[in-house]
Amino acid sequence: MTGSFLIQMSDNKNFSKVAVVGLGYVGLPLCIRFCESGLEVLGLDIDQEKVDSINAGRSYIQHIDSGTISDLTSKNSLNASTQFSDVQQCDAVLICVPTPLGKHREPDISYVLDTGRSIAPFLKAEEGQSKKLVVLESTTYPGTTDEKLKQVLESESGLVTGQDFHLAYSPEREDPGRTDYNVKSIPKVMGGYTKDCLQKCVDLYSIALDEVYPVTSTRVAEATKLTENIFRCVNIALVNELKVVYEKMGINVWEVIEAASTKPFGFMPFYPGPGLGGHCIPIDPFYLTWKAHEAGVKTRFIELAGEVNQSMPEYVVQIVAKALNAAAKSIRSSRILILGLAYKSNVDDTRESPSFKLIELLSEEGAIIDYYDPHVDKIPKIRKYPELSGKKSVEWNEESVRGFDLVLVSTAHDSVDYQELGQWAKVVVDTRNAMSEVTDANAKIYPA
Ligand SMILES: NC(=O)c1ccc[n+]([C@@H]2O[C@H](COP(=O)([O-])OP(=O)(O)OC[C@H]3O[C@@H](n4cnc5c(N)ncnc54)[C@H](O)[C@@H]3O)[C@@H](O)[C@H]2O)c1
Repeated sequence: MTGSFLIQMSDNKNFSKVAVVGLGYVGLPLCIRFCESGLEVLGLDIDQEKVDSINAGRSYIQHIDSGTISDLTSKNSLNASTQFSDVQQCDAVLICVPTPLGKHREPDISYVLDTGRSIAPFLKAEEGQSKKLVVLESTTYPGTTDEKLKQVLESESGLVTGQDFHLAYSPEREDPGRTDYNVKSIPKVMGGYTKDCLQKCVDLYSIALDEVYPVTSTRVAEATKLTENIFRCVNIALVNELKVVYEKMGINVWEVIEAASTKPFGFMPFYPGPGLGGHCIPIDPFYLTWKAHEAGVKTRFIELAGEVNQSMPEYVVQIVAKALNAAAKSIRSSRILILGLAYKSNVDDTRESPSFKLIELLSEEGAIIDYYDPHVDKIPKIRKYPELSGKKSVEWNEESVRGFDLVLVSTAHDSVDYQELGQWAKVVVDTRNAMSEVTDANAKIYPA
C-alpha cells in the first residue's frame, strides 16, 4: 500500500457482505470484483429492469458477459434488489449513482443525496455487527461527502458520523472498454471523514484491489478525481486547438503527436476529436468551476478548454461543407453517414457523444443523416434528442456505403474495416485519424 497518509493494514477485515448502490457502468463491475474476492454483494438500484436483468443472470452492458453475472447469481454471491432496507444486513455501502449537470450546467448531486436518504434509516450496526461503512464513489466536488452527504445521513438516521458509522470517499477510475487495466489493477485513492473511517475503507478495498492509496481527507480524494479529468479536458483542448492551427499549415497533427511521443519524458500524447463525450470529461470540470465560483475564484483555464472543445463540432461541419463543395455538392440534401455513435472506440456507451451534436448541426443545414455503429444497433432514449430515439444503424456493406455522399468518421471502432471504407465511400471526413493507413490512392479523405 502506498499513500501520502500512511495507514496500517488492519487484521480486522470484518466484511462479509457489501451493498453497491447504482448498477451502471461503474457499479456493476465493482459488484463483480467484490464477488470474485469472496464477498457477498447486494446490488441496489431504482431501475427495476436492471435489477430483474441481474437476477435473471443477464448483462445489459456490452463488455460484461452474461455468463459472468449468471455464475455469480447462481452461487448467490450476487443479488440485486430495489429494497434499501436490505442494507441492514450489509457491512458496507458503496454509492455509484450519477452526478450529472443541471439545466444551468451546475452540479446535480440529487442522486447522491437521494441515496443517502434511502440508506440512512438502515445504517445502525446490528447486534454483533461492527460499524457500517459508507463510501461515495461518484465523481463530485470537494465537500460533497463531509458536508452534504454527511448531513443527509445524520439527519435521516439520528446517528453521528465517525461514532456510529464510518464515511469515506473513493473515486471510481474505471475506463470502460479498456483492456490493459481493470477495476482490480487500477490503484484506488481514498479519504476518510476520520482516521478510523479511512482505516475501514482501506481494509475493505484491500480485499478486492491490488493497490489502495489513502489520502488525508475526503476533500483531497474528491479533488484528485476532478484534477485527473480536468487534466484530460485541458490537454484535449490543447491538441484540438493545435489541430486547427496545423491544418491551416498543411501539417498533420496526428503525425506531430506520434513524433512528439518518442520523447521519453516531459510529453504525454492526447488526441484531437470532434468534441468531448462520455459521462466524465465534458461534465466533471464544471463541478470544480461551480465550486470555485462559490468560493469567489475564477477557473479561466478550465473554461477556455471547455470553449475550445465545444467548438469542435462546428469546425468538423465546416470541413464537411468543404469536402462536399469540392464534389460540387452542398450539405443541404446530401446523404451523410455518421460512422460511430458511441462516445469512444469499442464501447456501446453513447452518453454525451459528440456524434449527436454533429447529427444536430448537419440536420439543421438540411443534410439527410444515417449512422453506422457496430456497438449501437438502435439509438437509446436520450433526454436531449428524443427525436433520434429508436433510429437504427444502417447495414455495413458496399451498396449501403456507396449510397452516401459523404461518410463522417466520428468514432473509430476497431472492428470497422477502414480500407474497405476508403474503397467504398465517395468522400470521407475523418476526425479520428482512422483512415491513416488506407492505401487506395483514389480515396478522398479530409482530416477534421
Ligand atoms: N462511466 C464511467 O466511465 C465512469 C468512470 C469513473 C467515474 N464515473 C462516475 O461514477 C458515477 C456513476 O456513473 P455510471 O457511469 O456508472 O452511471 P450509470 O448511469 O451507468 O449508472 C448509474 C446507476 O445508478 C442508478 N441510480 C440512480 N439514482 C439512484 C438512486 N437514488 N438509488 C439507486 N440507484 C440509483 C441508475 O438507475 C443507474 O443504474 C458518476 O458519478 C460518474 O461520473 C463514471
